[in-house]
Amino acid sequence: MAKQRVFISRPLPDKGIAVLKNDFDVEVNPEDRPLSRSEFLEKIADADGVLCLIHDRIDSEVFDAAPRVKGFANYAVGFDNIDVPEATRRGVPVSNTPGVLTDATAEMAWALLFAVARRVVESDTVMRNRQWPGWGPLQFIGGDITGSTLGIVGAGRIGTSMALKSRGFNMRVLYYDVFRNKTLEAELGAEPVDLDRLLTESDYVSIHTPLMTETRHLITLDRIRQMKKTAYLINTSRGGLVVERDLADALNAGRIAGAALDVLSVEPPRPDNPLLAAENCFITPHVAWATRESRARLMDIAVENIRAFLAGAPQNVVN
Ligand code: GLV
Repeated sequence: MAKQRVFISRPLPDKGIAVLKNDFDVEVNPEDRPLSRSEFLEKIADADGVLCLIHDRIDSEVFDAAPRVKGFANYAVGFDNIDVPEATRRGVPVSNTPGVLTDATAEMAWALLFAVARRVVESDTVMRNRQWPGWGPLQFIGGDITGSTLGIVGAGRIGTSMALKSRGFNMRVLYYDVFRNKTLEAELGAEPVDLDRLLTESDYVSIHTPLMTETRHLITLDRIRQMKKTAYLINTSRGGLVVERDLADALNAGRIAGAALDVLSVEPPRPDNPLLAAENCFITPHVAWATRESRARLMDIAVENIRAFLAGAPQNVVN
């Protein structure tokens, strides 16, 4: 009997691919770049399972083009690149890789928080550009972290992990979520609050909510105006949660002290993305989940998810 066919849309760790090759006929896009739409549609035409990435838009056109597919395994925790309601309507399972990058992402949120609060990136730039005139008392003044207030928007796995890591800094923790988080309340005395209060009272606002219809453009100029002038915004979730033009305007007008972003609404950003030129802002290229260990776990789970689809027992299904 012919082996079932798996398509993988970008080169991924060899070990996981070798595991799949034991049982399936596996094709991997050999080039380390996202496939064009037409290439992707052509490649999935006779696939039984597809391992796709966050840059692959999975929608009706894709479902139409892949009539045999038994499931799409997203190589990520987030799945806003996939039209999940449409997949559900068609009975196509979609899986993600929950839990594999929780601490890695929370650690990066802390890295961004420290870096923006203590102006690490701009200090480094001045040194490398040989522009430092020598020490001065007014240079690179940042904000205190110890004893300040941390506002967590979205207290799921990653938001919880970030909040719990605040323990060494004796912070007051507020969180905004549709669900109560008993762990944060018991361990940190964290307070569940509405978004207005979180924005008004926090010194650091860290975004961890998934991107969904209800959360798209959650952070607008009006929202940013509620923040303290000395506050910082950190986003390691998805760029679409923030109205980027509004954030850039707010930063340029000095309405908040700074922003550190690992994600943008379009990646890579268009050259005219206003955040690329905004004051007191730095951006990293969606690397919060990029640690050796979490990538290895990610691949293991994605491989298991594909095997589960093709064995007719889908796992880690989000629909
Ligand atoms: C990374 O952004 C993920 O969603 O896993």
